[in-house]
Order: sequence, then C-alpha cells, then structure tokens
Amino acid sequence: MTGHAGGPPPGSEGAAAPAPGQQNGTVATIMRRRSVRADFTERTPPNSVVRQIVQAGLAAPSAKNAQPWRLHVVRDPGLIAWISEQMMAAPGREEFVPVDPLSGQPHPGHVSTVAASAAVIAAVPLVIVVESLEPFSSAASGARAPGADQFAIRLDAFAVGAAVQNMWLAATSFGLAGVFLADAAVASDAIVPRLGLKGALFGALALGYSRVDATPPMNAALLPEIERAVWHGDSDVDRV
Ligand SMILES: Cc1cc2nc3c(=O)[nH]c(=O)nc-3n(C[C@H](O)[C@H](O)[C@H](O)COP(=O)(O)O)c2cc1C
Repeated sequence: MTGHAGGPPPGSEGAAAPAPGQQNGTVATIMRRRSVRADFTERTPPNSVVRQIVQAGLAAPSAKNAQPWRLHVVRDPGLIAWISEQMMAAPGREEFVPVDPLSGQPHPGHVSTVAASAAVIAAVPLVIVVESLEPFSSAASGARAPGADQFAIRLDAFAVGAAVQNMWLAATSFGLAGVFLADAAVASDAIVPRLGLKGALFGALALGYSRVDATPPMNAALLPEIERAVWHGDSDVDRV
C-alpha cells in the first residue's frame, strides 16, 4: 500500500467523519485562502517554502497526466518590477476584461483591474508566472484553429488551474498570502519572450506576507440566483 505522508489514506480509520463544525487541517487551509492584494511586508519566503509551493503545483492532477504547465518562479525584485511595468504599459490595458460571449467584445459589465493587479505584483517578493502548454487545445507552435475543441480547452485550463490552486493552498498553509492574477496575461507579448515561454501565459500567482488578515471578495458572484450546490435525492444530509 502506498504511504500517504501527512494524512491518512482514504478509507482508513484516520479519515473518519469530523464532528459537526470541525475541520481538519486541509479543509481549514482551504477555507482560510483568500485573494489578498494589499499590505505586504518586506519579508521574503525562504527557499524551502518556495520549493514546497512549486512542488505542490507540479503535483496537480491533469487529463491523461499531460501536466500541461510550466512554472516560472520569479524572485528577482528587478524582474518582478519589470513584469509590473509591462502590465501597466500594455496596450489594451483599460479594455482587458473577459469577452462577452454574445458580442465577442469586452464585457460591458466588467472594468479592467490590470492597474490594481500590476500594483500587487510590484508589492510582493514572489511571483510564479504560470505557463499553459495547451497540449490538447493548440499546436506545438501555440496556434489554435478558430473552432478549437472547447472540451480540449477545458482539459488544458482545468489542469493548470489545479496547479495554481495547489500552490495557493500550499502558500496559505505556510502563512503566505496573495492572489492569482489572470491580468498578467495582458503583457504576454513582453513577458513570453523574456521568460522563454513556449505556450500561453495563463496568469501569475503573486505571493508574500501580508498584514491583511481577511479580505472580502472584490466582486459579487455572477448569477446570484443560482444555487451553487444542488443536493440530489438525499434528505438527511446537512446542507452547506
Ligand atoms: C482564474 C482566476 C483569475 C483571476 N484573476 C484575477 C486578476 O487578474 N486580478 C485580481 O485582482 N484577482 C483575480 N482573481 C481573484 C478573484 O478575483 C478571486 O478569487 C475572487 O474574487 C474570489 O475571492 P477570494 O479568492 O478571496 O475567495 C482571479 C481568480 C481566478 C480563479
């Protein structure tokens, strides 16, 4: 049987159901993770912590075990400042919002957060630029047919997102805070050649030590009328 360091193997007695209201350490870390964008200190994370964060990212699941990510660990303050500057200087910075699926134009309901995201990058000691190799959805050159299979795009994006979340949770467990910034992709034209990306710039995970304890989400949930957990069939389970 394979060992499960740091936790009981699934199905063992150690994985018993928690008492009502109790969380184990993993769930507590998940619930503690928030997007933190302010009040970072000068403190830098030690090598051993950065290594474990990266290892957690590399341990993410992926369709067909494709491992469609490359993680670019940036700790040089000069390079971090340069990334921030490139975001501020990127053409189209003000219109960099998700596209409205009906019109194909920038979504009228969203405003650009690139300047705020660039300020976060400038304030942290660790930036992990996340590259998506997109093995299912684009050719080795990065080219994608207009009708590229949406399922393939999802497979690629899911796995890279899982790597990001693994790193974010690992960082949280070490007392680091920060935020994943898809906004970094606004400066792809500058960052991709400088860091030597072969695939697409998926975003950047900005991490540091912050004095902010907890911060509410920046946006309200879209589609508030939708119940996000639907319980089918059971009547005797505790609903979240
Ligand atoms: C795919 C993705 C992209 C994101 N991009 C940005 C971003 O560019 N700028 C930013 O400030 N926050 C960004 N965020 C953070 C979200 O705004 C945040 O996760 C959300 O508001 C919920 O807040 P919470 O993380 O504190 O729970 C991103 C999050 C995800 C998952």
